[in-house]
Formats: sequence, structure tokens, C-alpha cells
Amino acid sequence: MRIGVLTGGGDCPGLNAAIRAVVRRADHYGYEVLGIHNGWAGLLGEGSIAPLSVRDVSGILPLGGTILGTSRTNPFKNPEHVQQVMANLDRHGLDALVAIGGDDTLGVAAKLYERDVRVVGIPKTMDNDVNGTDYTIGFNSAVTIVADALDKLHTTASSHHRVLVVEVMGRDAGWVAVVGGLAGGADFILIPERPTNVETVCRHLERRRQMGKDFSIIVVAEGAVVPDLPTLEQSDTDQFGHVRLDRRNIGELVGREIERRTGFETRVTVLGHLQRGGSPTLFDRVLATRFGVAAVDYINEGRFGFMPALRGVEIVPCKLSEAVATNRRVDLTLYELAQLFY
Ligand code: F6P
Repeated sequence: MRIGVLTGGGDCPGLNAAIRAVVRRADHYGYEVLGIHNGWAGLLGEGSIAPLSVRDVSGILPLGGTILGTSRTNPFKNPEHVQQVMANLDRHGLDALVAIGGDDTLGVAAKLYERDVRVVGIPKTMDNDVNGTDYTIGFNSAVTIVADALDKLHTTASSHHRVLVVEVMGRDAGWVAVVGGLAGGADFILIPERPTNVETVCRHLERRRQMGKDFSIIVVAEGAVVPDLPTLEQSDTDQFGHVRLDRRNIGELVGREIERRTGFETRVTVLGHLQRGGSPTLFDRVLATRFGVAAVDYINEGRFGFMPALRGVEIVPCKLSEAVATNRRVDLTLYELAQLFY
């Protein structure tokens, strides 16, 4: 048996831990692994496809990013590209494929499975918005970085008696903002799932001042819905049709408006790609390892069209069609929990 493995979409810590686990588990069964470089682009001739041995993956467990490279290439944009992907799978004698990615990469995998490609997925994305799993690889590392940043921003906010607005990633889901903000003691969190006027934030900040709290930390998700703020329309999209949310500058807009309406000195920090960098947390290393092993076990059992999912403490098989049917939006009970500490 020869298995191909690729990483697609935005990188995040834990990808290498998953690749290592795939290779090690495949070796256990006596299967050969080929590493496909640069996501789906690698199957379109835009990246090499080369053997990946146990020796190649030695030492990569704590390494951020992905040794295979990644891209946001969508072969389904062009029917000829789909044929090319299928032909390349054949040409390299790949009997099975492991696609490590978020909803876009897994969406391509689900469509290939409908065309009889023997594929399994592994859910990763710092956004944590893949349906069917409690956690995706990369989320825990990202929110750990957010919480650490909030700790650091607290001391400078408090010294200068300022409002600090912190913009975090997460696309159309508020997971990073809510969990990062909860862990980092945010004084207000703005997310896509709970539209909130900037006026409400200002009134809250004024109440805090009256209570003697002379600094505040506001976490803003990049996709936050703030109805009383004119946000920049953005038309720049990637191959999966996602708009560039970083160009909305929502953090800057919120910060500017808070300062204008309250007169409180305000600064804005955009955490950006820092949230996807560095070494994976212990949680992500273990999750990625469990997912990688389970994915190869599914291949060994002939269980294609699935991905391993974390539900509670168990790893369970989840259909790719279920995983990509919808985006998993934030648990609002967590948001309400964070609100108790504003
Ligand atoms: O999907 C992961 C993510 O980090 C989103 O949170 C963010 O909107 C997007 O990727 C940024 O993409 P890029 O790396 O292409 O700038």
C-alpha cells in the first residue's frame, strides 16, 4: 500500500506532529508514504511528490508550520484540474490519500471521495470551525498565543490607563476570540455570532471607569459584526471564495471609534499570523498524533471518506460530508461565561 499525505490551507502548529504520526503508523503496517508538497497544488504539478520515511519525520514533532508546504489551491475551480489530480494520484501509484486541512481542504477531499478516491481527512485549523469535532489541530496553540498576548497587553494597558483593542483571527467563527479572551481575561469580546454595536462597548467602558477600572482589554474577532460601524467592503478573495478579513481592519475601526466616542486613550494590536506560528502546545501535539494514527488506521480498515474527530475525550470517525456540511460556530454558552468577567 502506498499512501500520499498533504497539508492544505493556512498553516498552524501541529501539522508536522500529524505528518509524523501518519508516517510512523503507516510504517507500523508496512505501508509506504509519499509526501505531496504544497497542498492540492502538489497534485497539479506545482510541488514535488517524494517518499517520506520515518527518518524524514524524525525530530519534527515540536516544529511549527508544515515540512510539506501548503497552499490555498482549489482544484475544483477547474474541471481539468480535477482530472489532473486523479491522473497524478494514479501516476504515483497512490492507493490512498491523507488530506490534512480545514473546511476547504476537507471539502476537496469530500468531493474526491465522491469520485471514488480513497481519501481520509485530518481536521486542522486555528479557527476551530470544522463541523463534527470539538477541536481541530492548531486551535489550542493559537489561543495559547492569544492568552499570552493578552497577559502582556494587560500590564502596558494598566500602566498607561488605556483601552487596548486586540484583533484576532478566526474567519467567520468567534472561537479564537472567545476562548482566547476568556483565558486572557478580556473586558469585552466582539464576535461574528453575536452582533454588538460599538456604542454598547463604549457604554461598558464608561461604566468600568466609573467603577475605578482605568484600563480595559477589548478582543475583536476579524469577522466581528458591529452593526453601527461602517466596515470596509472587501472583494479580494482566495480560490475558495473567502474574503481577506485582515483588510477589513475591524480592530482599527473599533479602536478609533472607541477613542472618538469616549475620549479614552486607545491603542490597537493586530495579532495576525503570530497566532499560527511557533511550536505546538502539548494539547495539539497529542491531538495531532492521535488524529494521524487514527487516519492511517481508517485506511487500514478500508474506511474511506472519514476523518478522525475529537468528541469529549474520544477519537471517533466522522464522515467528511458531515464535516464540510456547515461551519461550526462558537458555543454561545462559552461567550456568556466570558461576559460574567467583563
Ligand atoms: O483559516 C485560518 C486563517 O488563519 C484565518 O483565521 C484567517 O482569516 C486566514 O487564515 C488568513 O489567511 P492567510 O494566511 O491567507 O492570510
